[in-house]
Amino acid sequence: MKFVGIVGSNAEQSYNRTLLEFIRKHFKTRFELEILEITDIPMFNQDEDWEAHFQLRLLNNKITRADGVIIATPEHNHTITAALKSVLEWLSYKVHPLESKPIMIVGASYHDQGTSRAQTHLRKILDAPGVNAYTLPGNEFLLGKAKEAFDENGNIISEGTVNFLESCVDNFIKYVQVVSKLRKPKPILPEDLYCNNPIATTITEVDPDDPEWVEKVAEITGAVSGNTYVRLDHGILTVDQINMFLNSMPFELTYADDNNQFLYYNNAHQDPSTMLAKRVPAQSGSRLGTVHNSLPANRMKNVEWVVGTLRNGNQEYVRTLVPNPSEHIINTHNYQAMYYPDGSYAGINEIVFNFKPWLDWYLETTGQSLVGGSVRPAAAAAADATSGASDAQGGPASAAPAADASSGASEHA
Ligand SMILES: Cc1cc2nc3c(=O)[nH]c(=O)nc-3n(C[C@H](O)[C@H](O)[C@H](O)COP(=O)(O)O)c2cc1C
Repeated sequence: MKFVGIVGSNAEQSYNRTLLEFIRKHFKTRFELEILEITDIPMFNQDEDWEAHFQLRLLNNKITRADGVIIATPEHNHTITAALKSVLEWLSYKVHPLESKPIMIVGASYHDQGTSRAQTHLRKILDAPGVNAYTLPGNEFLLGKAKEAFDENGNIISEGTVNFLESCVDNFIKYVQVVSKLRKPKPILPEDLYCNNPIATTITEVDPDDPEWVEKVAEITGAVSGNTYVRLDHGILTVDQINMFLNSMPFELTYADDNNQFLYYNNAHQDPSTMLAKRVPAQSGSRLGTVHNSLPANRMKNVEWVVGTLRNGNQEYVRTLVPNPSEHIINTHNYQAMYYPDGSYAGINEIVFNFKPWLDWYLETTGQSLVGGSVRPAAAAAADATSGASDAQGGPASAAPAADASSGASEHA
């Protein structure tokens, strides 16, 4: 489960931030908690463009994809802070990421009542039609006397308080599971699989479907290669090292950007006939529509569904099993959304992976075996798994809905 925590204070030193950090640490095996700040967000103004503010885009994108939200509110003059109220106005005017979202309220304040009045107000605000959240009833976690509540490592000192927090969080997790059934997925808009919306990184001078796209674009951009060093997020590698690294991955990787342009695949020197998802070097740079043009129309719809589902935040990944006649192969495809720093959709990282050797290794190492003794025939298992998943997620109910959203290995169908 993935939760987002919102610090309701814009102060540099905040007990509500400490409270969320404690929750993140204490419950790290139960859920992932990403803590988001409201510090740099200007006062709500309906004449201003919300998208101009990075922090608001980040909040909107992260909340949209989260399974639940925990708001830690201070109490100022018997209500929530002006900063938090302002953020809730931004998030209930042109965009509504909190709609139908399960929310848990917690709060820390200096005085005995520990944000009880602020929490009551926050509940009412979250219930307003523009916000329309599902706030966890009861379970008021109030941390009074916040200055004395934490030790020097940011842990809540009182065991009784931690026990109560645990019971509230348990209830919230159950509540999220129940409420997720009421969730209305965002509509999936039509996808342009023919790259008609260039993005900042698109090289418009070369036709995407040009078989020599890589060579031509490399020349235009002066792309570095060989032993030139590239600085990454946290490391420095030469281009050769990056290639060795990616080619040593025990799976086939594909990268299609948010303009639906197929930019890259690893192991391009491999014989395509030996690949799970067959690709050829001339496909690099191609439009996703062209890559898939041998697919029947209903399968093309599935490609659009996968991209649209990842783009609008309904899911962070889509997984499918591709039916395979060999007992040595469990052909899994994982379409993982990639994100820009503001949390918006940046494209697909597709991992095509034979799960069977890993499964065999795991069973052997742990001395376990499968119930029934063997893996079921892949085709039947795939049909069950994918139709089940897609029913639950509101996707197409075909046997392999997403096979090759980005790689175009239509041979599997
Ligand atoms: C303008 C103002 C009004 C406050 N009013 C209250 C209040 O009504 N009740 C309360 O318990 N604490 C009140 N406090 C103290 C807050 O609990 C404390 O400053 C702080 O906001 C705690 O949260 P934080 O450390 O996350 O910012 C007030 C503080 C300020 C600055």
